[in-house]
Amino acid sequence: MSKTVLAIESSCDETAAAVVRDGREVLSSVISSQVEEHKKYGGVVPEIASRRHCENICWVTEAALHKAALTLDAVDAVAVTYAPGLIGALLVGVGYAKGLAMAANKPLVPVHHLRGHVAANYIAHPELQPPFLCMIVSGGHSHIVEVQDYTRFKVLGRTRDDAAGEAFDKAARAMGFPYPGGVYIDKASRLGNPKAFRLPRPRVEGSPLDFSFSGLKTAVINTIHTASQRGEEIDKNDLAAAFQQTVCDIISEKLSLALDACPHDKLVLAGGVSANSGLRARLEEDCRRRGIRFFCPPLALCGDNAAMIGAQGYYELLNGNVADMSLNAVASKKIDID
Ligand code: KG4
Ligand code: ZN
Repeated sequence: MSKTVLAIESSCDETAAAVVRDGREVLSSVISSQVEEHKKYGGVVPEIASRRHCENICWVTEAALHKAALTLDAVDAVAVTYAPGLIGALLVGVGYAKGLAMAANKPLVPVHHLRGHVAANYIAHPELQPPFLCMIVSGGHSHIVEVQDYTRFKVLGRTRDDAAGEAFDKAARAMGFPYPGGVYIDKASRLGNPKAFRLPRPRVEGSPLDFSFSGLKTAVINTIHTASQRGEEIDKNDLAAAFQQTVCDIISEKLSLALDACPHDKLVLAGGVSANSGLRARLEEDCRRRGIRFFCPPLALCGDNAAMIGAQGYYELLNGNVADMSLNAVASKKIDID
């Protein structure tokens, strides 16, 4: 039977609501971004994020229902991102979704934010079904995950320090780009020579599938400091290109090892950094050479949104993963534990 899910997302600096049918069809998706406000501070200020979610969540949700031409009574469940993320930000969404579910007497479906990023691909690619190998690269996480089924995940590798997006943002900040800097590095790198700088490719001793990006970020910062001490001008486009290519090299190498150890015929990219043009092109080429299929979300579904939460919420609902009214937000939670 067809199921329509109203989904709410407020884990970071986007307040979002969406209505999604059967996990694949987006009837509406509304996003209110706070990025311009946080830009002034060079990063997300959690206190401000919570307050803006509180102000915006009602109209964003009303707008999503209105665009879908549905009332709350007509949806089958309310899904909400409950982990991981900024705790104050998550609490706004969780509290609000609980109120909606209780008032309308609908099942409440807790959704893990990273599972949502994976599910963005189900919206864009109707033929995509688990199992597959997935690279999740977001602002807060970098995981190689075996998606065994819609609600069954196995983490094969993870970052030991900075996430890929965090490394992009910190390197971008050192280069003088505004927050969030990933997209600026992406643009600058198209104009630069990646061979102009040699940056390290840190490894994690004894854990070949784990990542470490903080040494790479530090190398970028040191390169900039050394040049400024010598009074030399750095070509930002070259440094951006070298940084982006190094990140792509690291991810490509780890995924190749992961696919050797755990063969799959599909590789899926997910999370905010999946918008990166260099990474998309590199992994597409890697998959073509390996003879497997490559999937990534369209740019509109790479960043935080509630449509992906509605997509995953549908599969959580089918699996019986519903919460009672004691549901709480959780700041950090593994993707593979219910
Ligand atoms: O998944 P996301 O929207 O938020 C989290 O769940 O963390 O990811 C945001 C991250 C930021 O670090 C941002 O700089 C990065 O995604 N990002 C990019 C690009 N677009 C967004 N990084 C590299 N290249 C891009 N084009
Ligand atoms: Zn995200």
